[in-house]
Amino acid sequence: MSQNVSSRISGFYKRCVEDRLRAIQALGLLDEDALAHLASGGGLPTAVADRMCENVIATHALPLGLALNFRVNQRDVLVPMAVEEPSVIAAASNAARMVRLSGGFSGEADPPIMTAQVQLDDVPDTEAAAGRLEAARASLLAAGDAAIPRMVARGGGCRDLEVRVLSAELGVLVVHLYVEVGDAMGANLVDTVAEAVAPLVQRIAGGTIGLRILSNLSVRRRVRVTATVGDDALGGADVASGIARASRFAELDPYRATTHNKGFMNGLDAAAVALGQDFRAIEAGAHAYASLSGRYRPLSTWERVPGGLVGRAELPLAVGTVGGSTEVHAGVRAALQLVGAKSARELAVVLASVGLASNLAALRALASEGIQRGHMRLHERKRALAVTGTGSDEATAPPSGEGKRFAPERAEASRAVQQAEGGT
Ligand code: MEV
Repeated sequence: MSQNVSSRISGFYKRCVEDRLRAIQALGLLDEDALAHLASGGGLPTAVADRMCENVIATHALPLGLALNFRVNQRDVLVPMAVEEPSVIAAASNAARMVRLSGGFSGEADPPIMTAQVQLDDVPDTEAAAGRLEAARASLLAAGDAAIPRMVARGGGCRDLEVRVLSAELGVLVVHLYVEVGDAMGANLVDTVAEAVAPLVQRIAGGTIGLRILSNLSVRRRVRVTATVGDDALGGADVASGIARASRFAELDPYRATTHNKGFMNGLDAAAVALGQDFRAIEAGAHAYASLSGRYRPLSTWERVPGGLVGRAELPLAVGTVGGSTEVHAGVRAALQLVGAKSARELAVVLASVGLASNLAALRALASEGIQRGHMRLHERKRALAVTGTGSDEATAPPSGEGKRFAPERAEASRAVQQAEGGT
């Protein structure tokens, strides 16, 4: 998005879907194909779906919404989110509005270095084998590069090697090759490298080749984001202190950390799904990273500072702006145009910021009125839509007159959305 386009769009929640699309069109972010795709209701032609996976019988839709108010590294960003859970998009937008009052989110992502693993079993002397493998570093990296010449030509390739003895007794050893994958998520490239170097690894170390595959714990591809939010924006010093206490609770207790991280992933996953990312890989990596110290910990923390809070998050995040479904899925292409990230690293910072916003919104609600009131208002809205909306059929339609009973609830729900979105 150009510097002078704002991610704050006045009264967006009040408009009908067509008007919202017109507002987006006016920003000039989308090409004609993307606009036509969204205007037709989104979706995926069955013929395209049939090429994407196996045994296709239909497609399965999710609502696609836009989170507003995000400012990330001094750039306003519209965040497309695909999610079935009410309040996730409104909550992220609301938290982003509070954070932008203090300048928005800032962050940085590591270079896109993925990890290839080659497993060896029955290695006779693992320490000696590890020494020989390390001595052969240059030829192993060259063998990996030879398998991905186009990525090497684009500036990527094998950067480093690490040997880990998992069990000297059983002769189990694993070689990591660290591969720079550009703007791709990189799974295919890394698997190619792992398979290509395995025979050489075995010749050097002895033993039996086992698995040759990426690790989804991409510790060398981490993202870090931070946000400051003032007491006033949060609704007072007591709420801010409550959020800091909630954060400490998550640091002390893996049961709470799990739910804390679920709230963080609510926003990150919804944006990742809209943007065609491998959210299973993201989830696996995030939770493994959360427990790397030996105890499951929160991915984000909130610390009290004079006049407000500072939030910080760090996690591995393997995402791409090229490859995968970005090539075939019109909705993913539209979502990428909306978010406007010029690189996979920039996309990672946006996604982690959305996670931190979701986490802040959840903790703020929990530390003040609790989560249920707002949640239930939005659930009611969904229920009211189910019984009166165009999608209702005989199975879901209320007995005659019941639609009227839901009218006040719809009005209440719409007020709830306005509150949640903070008048965006
Ligand atoms: C619900 O989807 C997410 C929360 O449980 C997160 C949290 O407890 O922090 C509200």
